[in-house]
Amino acid sequence: MSDLFDFEPQQQLFAVMGNPVEHSKSPQIHKLFAAQFNIVLDYQKILVEPGGFEQAVSNFRASGGRGLNVTVPFKLQAWYVCDQLTERARVAEAVNTIWFGEKRIHGDNTDGVGLVRDITRNLAFPIRRVRALVLGAGGAARGVLGPLMSAGPDEVVVANRTVDKAVLLEKHFVRFGNVRGCGLDDVSGKFDLVINATAASLQGQVPAVAPEIFSDKSLAYDLMYGDEETAFLVWAAEHGATQRADGLGMLVEQAAESFTIWHNRTPQTLPVIEAVRSGATGLA
Ligand code: ATR
Repeated sequence: MSDLFDFEPQQQLFAVMGNPVEHSKSPQIHKLFAAQFNIVLDYQKILVEPGGFEQAVSNFRASGGRGLNVTVPFKLQAWYVCDQLTERARVAEAVNTIWFGEKRIHGDNTDGVGLVRDITRNLAFPIRRVRALVLGAGGAARGVLGPLMSAGPDEVVVANRTVDKAVLLEKHFVRFGNVRGCGLDDVSGKFDLVINATAASLQGQVPAVAPEIFSDKSLAYDLMYGDEETAFLVWAAEHGATQRADGLGMLVEQAAESFTIWHNRTPQTLPVIEAVRSGATGLA
């Protein structure tokens, strides 16, 4: 038999690193994107032990890996590992997308652009001129604030249980526009857009903020997602937010931006959001 018949296109190797990582939907999402372009992809989940991130990246690169997604808790370490950062990764002080040049390790952060695209395109909710509230001042908030503020809201209030961290973010992001950091207690008035960037939903909790923040036109957006509506979204519905979204759309949009960086092709996201939501990804 001719070698021609044995030929298989060489698989390109990618992975997501995190701890935990078993739950990650990134392999499904990237394989669905790849199928849109007949790209053959090997996209793995790699569980990394605390303290082992740098070595894991170097092993992955040595085994022929082309690119990596990085998830909790390694986004800051990924920022340190990279030799060359995009402006938005520099500002976020966190990296979720890595690719390997001949000499350098490149890093980007696609979380913020993913959030903004999900809100403005998929949910058709304009951010320009709105009054926005971001709950939380940890890594997740820091990762999205630059692109959120660049989308042109009139005002962004960052409210956190630990006030000092919100004030630090105000100082860090003030060059992007009108931002104020405060405690959860200090929040008053109505907001068009309320983004939950706290980890409270992980414990089934809701940040202790006044429920009067919602008007009947508000969009409540939780960066977390799950099979059930998150505690924050249930609470938002009870207090009048008619528009609600979890972070699945953002997850797919940030993945699409990573995919575009790695493959120089822009995938369609809506069918992938639907497929992942319904669990019908059709791919292992
Ligand atoms: P991440 O990278 O997910 O942002 P993080 O950096 O540990 O994780 O930040 C978690 C965020 O969720 C913080 O803003 C935290 O508030 P504190 O800075 O006061 O710790 C917030 N958070 C976690 N649990 C919370 C809860 N039950 N109520 C309100 N805020 C909570």
